[in-house]
Amino acid sequence: MPEPQTWNNRRILLVDDQEQIHEDYRKILTPDDSHGQEVDQLASDFFGDGDTESSAENSNHVDLPSFQLESAYQGQSALEMVKQALEAGIPYSLALVDVRMPPGWDGIETIDRILRVDKDIQIVICTAYADYVWEDIHDKFGARDNILFMRKPFDATEVQQLACTLTEKWNLARRARMKVEELETLADQRTRELQRSNEELQDAMKDLRRTQVQLIQSEKMASLGSMVAGVAHEINTPIGAVASMHSTLVSAIKRMNVILSDLCDETDPRLKKLEKTMKVIGDANRVIASGTERVTTIVKRLKSFARLDEAELKTVNIHQGIDDTLEIAHHELKYAVKVVREYGDVPEFACFPSKLNQVFLNLFMNSRQAIETTGTLTIRTRIENSQAVIEIADTGKGIKAEHLKRIFDPGFTTKGVGVGTGLGLSIVYQIIEEHFGTIDVTSEVGSGTTFTIRLPLDLEERIERKKANGQRPSA
Ligand SMILES: Nc1ncnc2c1ncn2[C@@H]1O[C@H](COP(=O)(O)OP(=O)(O)OP(=O)(O)O)[C@@H](O)[C@H]1O
Ligand SMILES: [Mg+2]
Repeated sequence: MPEPQTWNNRRILLVDDQEQIHEDYRKILTPDDSHGQEVDQLASDFFGDGDTESSAENSNHVDLPSFQLESAYQGQSALEMVKQALEAGIPYSLALVDVRMPPGWDGIETIDRILRVDKDIQIVICTAYADYVWEDIHDKFGARDNILFMRKPFDATEVQQLACTLTEKWNLARRARMKVEELETLADQRTRELQRSNEELQDAMKDLRRTQVQLIQSEKMASLGSMVAGVAHEINTPIGAVASMHSTLVSAIKRMNVILSDLCDETDPRLKKLEKTMKVIGDANRVIASGTERVTTIVKRLKSFARLDEAELKTVNIHQGIDDTLEIAHHELKYAVKVVREYGDVPEFACFPSKLNQVFLNLFMNSRQAIETTGTLTIRTRIENSQAVIEIADTGKGIKAEHLKRIFDPGFTTKGVGVGTGLGLSIVYQIIEEHFGTIDVTSEVGSGTTFTIRLPLDLEERIERKKANGQRPSA
């Protein structure tokens, strides 16, 4: 099939029952020098015009396109030829059809049948008789722009002009249609490309949002880390001084008590007052002691949070770390919590063991605090997709849906002032991120909570790669 812009179909089907007419058409539409005179004469004789001079001028000296003429002598064979040409992809652009063609179909019947299979073909109805008038043809075919009615006698020029114009009209229409089809295909292709880029954009947006959330989280952690380090440092020195001065004070008071009991006469009524005062001092000291201890604990946690990168990378058995941590938490868990260990076959792998212990401790403590009376803490481990999976599930009170998205935020706690600092899970998050791992949570209020940690087994290589190309961990 040629390109739309190169369509130049000059194939013409001549449909007439008389052999001579075909010959004459050929001489007019495909003239060469030897035909020159003949055509002039023919134009005069056959078409009966007699205006040989003007015919000769018009027919011989015009550059005609190279028409390809094919002949059919009956309507039936004309229809067959039209069908075959269409199938072969070389349709006729024009058919010149005689009206009377005994014994077969007449021209009108032939045209009707041809138009049913090829609606684009241009038709010229040629007749010397008044068998049909234009109105009849109009009634038969309706208002069509591809049927012309030409009554004999007509001259050679007229035939040449019609052939030129109508074949050109066919070609223009075909080029326009192909251009439209090409544009439609292009539009379809562009639409598909647009849809694809749209989908890609949406995916990129999702990725971006995910990365943004991760970034905000890790930025929060980083800025909190340095703030906490500063605060811990600021508090550590004065609280150390308070704690040490407090124990000095306690021993001084003990000594003072001894001295006073030596000095005072037991019957002295001021002794009662002194005892009361000493009791007030003792109570105050106890409050100071527990307060100082609480502040010291907080400072320790803050410091461990802020100094996360001090620990070393080691290849260890993760189950050992879990067991050690359970041991440490034993006094917290022993009465209320049944611990179930379902350890899978997890090989030793490189990690920051002390940091992971802190992860476990924070999660165990949360579970402990979520179990209001008694319950179970189940720790499962396995290997999945080349990752170590650690599941920590409790049968505690669960986490409300609106809290779930905030639990890793530094400072988020539901445990009330003085109970929780809200740092436990943000520390966990940071440590897991540092291990290039992930932590997910599922929870149902009233049933319990499960934290699932996934850690890659090739942390060492990942850290090396990160160092080499200065990338962030993709948690
Ligand atoms: N296993 C759990 N069951 C129910 N709620 C939980 C669990 N783990 C965490 N939470 C919820 O997430 C909040 C944040 O936990 P996170 O450990 O960060 O802080 P915290 O326990 O409140 O305080 P901190 O750990 O600093 O003492 C908790 O206050 C609690 O509401
Ligand atoms: Mg906690």
